[in-house]
Amino acid sequence: MSFSILGTGRAVPEYVVSNDKLSTMVETNDEWIRTRTGIHNRRIITTETMTDLCVTAANQALDDAGITAKDLDLIICATMKGMYITPSEACVIQKEIGATCPAFDLNAACSGFIYSLDVADGFFARGKIKHALVIAFDNLSNMTDWTDRSTCVLFGDGGGAVVLGEGDGLKSIHLTANGNTDVLYAPRGELTSPFDTHKGEKPVLHMVGQEVYKFAVTNMVRGIRKVVKAAGLEQKEITHMIPHQANIRIIDAAAAKLDIPRENYVVNVGEYGNTSAGSIPIALDEMNKQGKLKKGDYIAMCAFGAGLTTGSCVIQWDK
Ligand code: UT7
Repeated sequence: MSFSILGTGRAVPEYVVSNDKLSTMVETNDEWIRTRTGIHNRRIITTETMTDLCVTAANQALDDAGITAKDLDLIICATMKGMYITPSEACVIQKEIGATCPAFDLNAACSGFIYSLDVADGFFARGKIKHALVIAFDNLSNMTDWTDRSTCVLFGDGGGAVVLGEGDGLKSIHLTANGNTDVLYAPRGELTSPFDTHKGEKPVLHMVGQEVYKFAVTNMVRGIRKVVKAAGLEQKEITHMIPHQANIRIIDAAAAKLDIPRENYVVNVGEYGNTSAGSIPIALDEMNKQGKLKKGDYIAMCAFGAGLTTGSCVIQWDK
């Protein structure tokens, strides 16, 4: 027994930061950002907290699934950094929504949502749970060096949630990791021990963009080919392809090598930028709420990010 998706939700901050606004902060311009990334706007946390937004997404997913927080047997929050080092963001959310089940965070950077689905699948397979809540949210604006134009124009805050129930919706899933602390990383920050001889560094993201770009295109193609085949499908049978929303050029380059019809790609990077683990569940919820998902549709998803990690899967929509 595996799972099916019973409900979805999403939440992004109110405040919109345009490319023009960024060009007053660092030496950049709307034209460069649009043509190199496809991004026009991003949402940035101001007065909300990450937990407020996670709770909104979680409650939407519970409503959509028609269950209550008390029915949950597991909560996983995919994030690189919650509101606290400890307790986990999942435990903070658990308290806020009134759930009583086990809860923990999972850090696989931008691939965290797909990693969490695979972990949840294991709980269903062992017959341990009937309902799980997976939230994926990153607050990258608080992990960004706002004086570094090569990264600060790329990211946004936001995330989504899904409620999973027993079912056969998950058709295939594949995770990878390739340990690399050179091309994409954020140090853990201040060190508090008077004994530690190391120096803490500012906990902001560093990226060698072109290396990550090449990794992303190669591995999106590889991951999607693998999971579509494992699901016993042809690529042309994929009704909706939801790639991690990092850069429209990455999506275009991968799409040119795959056989999934280009019009089946879901793209919202223009409005939200790269929201890390949040990007795929935000897009999934938009599709669901816009009534674009029909029972029987095959949805392929593929994420890549720091680690370097990737996660790909095929899910049949049976709501
Ligand atoms: O979620 C997973 C993590 N991240 C990603 O998936 C990102 C993957 N990488 C990328 O999307 C692209 O590599 C970037 C969008 C980050 C950069 O695009 P690029 O086409 O690889 O540009 P580049 O790094 O080669 O930079 C080209 C030029 C450089 O100037 P010179 O050396 O040619 O004079 C940069 O200094 O663009 C300059 N540049 C900028 N110019 C204006 C870099 N950032 C900016 C900027 N505005 N914001």
